[in-house]
Amino acid sequence: MTHKDFRKRYLCLQQTNRAMNTKILIIGACGQIGTELTKKLRNIYGVENVIASDIRKLNNDVVNEGIFEVVNALDFNQIEHLVEQYQVTDVYLMAALLSATAEKNPAFAWDLNMNSLFHVLNLAKAKKIKKIFWPSSIAVFGPTTPRHNTPQYTIMEPSTVYGISKQSGERWCEYYHNIYGVDVRSIRYPGLISWSTEPGGGTTDYAVDIYHKALENGTYECFLSEETALPMMYMDDAIRATIEIMQAPAENIHVRSSYNLGGVSFTPKEIAQEIKKHIPSFTITYKPDFRQKIADSWPASIDDTVAQKDWNWKHEFDLAAMTVDMIEHLK
Ligand SMILES: NC(=O)c1ccc[n+]([C@@H]2O[C@H](COP(=O)([O-])OP(=O)(O)OC[C@H]3O[C@@H](n4cnc5c(N)ncnc54)[C@H](O)[C@@H]3O)[C@@H](O)[C@H]2O)c1
Repeated sequence: MTHKDFRKRYLCLQQTNRAMNTKILIIGACGQIGTELTKKLRNIYGVENVIASDIRKLNNDVVNEGIFEVVNALDFNQIEHLVEQYQVTDVYLMAALLSATAEKNPAFAWDLNMNSLFHVLNLAKAKKIKKIFWPSSIAVFGPTTPRHNTPQYTIMEPSTVYGISKQSGERWCEYYHNIYGVDVRSIRYPGLISWSTEPGGGTTDYAVDIYHKALENGTYECFLSEETALPMMYMDDAIRATIEIMQAPAENIHVRSSYNLGGVSFTPKEIAQEIKKHIPSFTITYKPDFRQKIADSWPASIDDTVAQKDWNWKHEFDLAAMTVDMIEHLK
């Protein structure tokens, strides 16, 4: 589907959704994905139908351009109160501790990533909300997973606390769907690249930082080695995928753990070469740190044919298009 078709569908759905009284709560709305998602959901569903929330109240569009509430995703009562107050139907749970940060505080990462999910799943089980979006990650895979073109169903032995929490989350989502009929939908996001928001402490953060440093200093020191291929996706594609999976008919969603989502796959060397096409003097050096070990345990590329078949997923941005857009916006 082209951007134009997608926009047309948005406008059409906007009317229908308002009529259907969709009320959305985004938890973790001030993060890298939440910021973009909030903007898009407000466009589609109307500012009055989207409640953004986060534990941090920043001075940004998420807070200033619509309804915003401070909430702690670990506090069931707070979430339940918001759900009742605004008659929320759909929850997008974006609050989590990401891969690199989670390794520094494993117990807290487990607590936040798991219990926030249980709170939302239990609200759906109690029929207080209708639909949940919960993001998983390529971190669910591990060193024993086939690295190239990683299939939807394969060996999953994650070796990071983040990956363990995401894989457990996937199992619980599927369980709540099978046993309690909860309509929960999920995507295994690859590393996400965006120009408007800072990444939140993941292993793929270098692929955002490199553009900033290329424009600021003309040079970048990368914390991964030059040949480390990882699956990545431009934020526009990721937001579109999130909204498309939530808008797909329930009967099309056959995977209730989480869908593989492919975008592009590249190494630090390849992204540097692409940047050089726009900034010929750009240089890169490599100084791998603890994140190299995390990256080495993840797939290099992802097979997302199941998402393509079930809800017509198709990514649009490749490395070249992403680089043009990033540089244009950051300039
Ligand atoms: N960004 C990526 O590349 C990527 C890749 C795979 C999966 N994901 C997943 O997508 C989701 C969102 O990721 P992101 O990159 O936007 O993360 P982020 O760290 O940028 O944002 C998370 C947001 O959650 C908020 N938060 C943290 N603790 C909270 C709490 N107790 N209560 C309420 N809010 C709280 C933070 O303040 C922050 O604004 C996460 O589940 C993450 O695991 C992200």
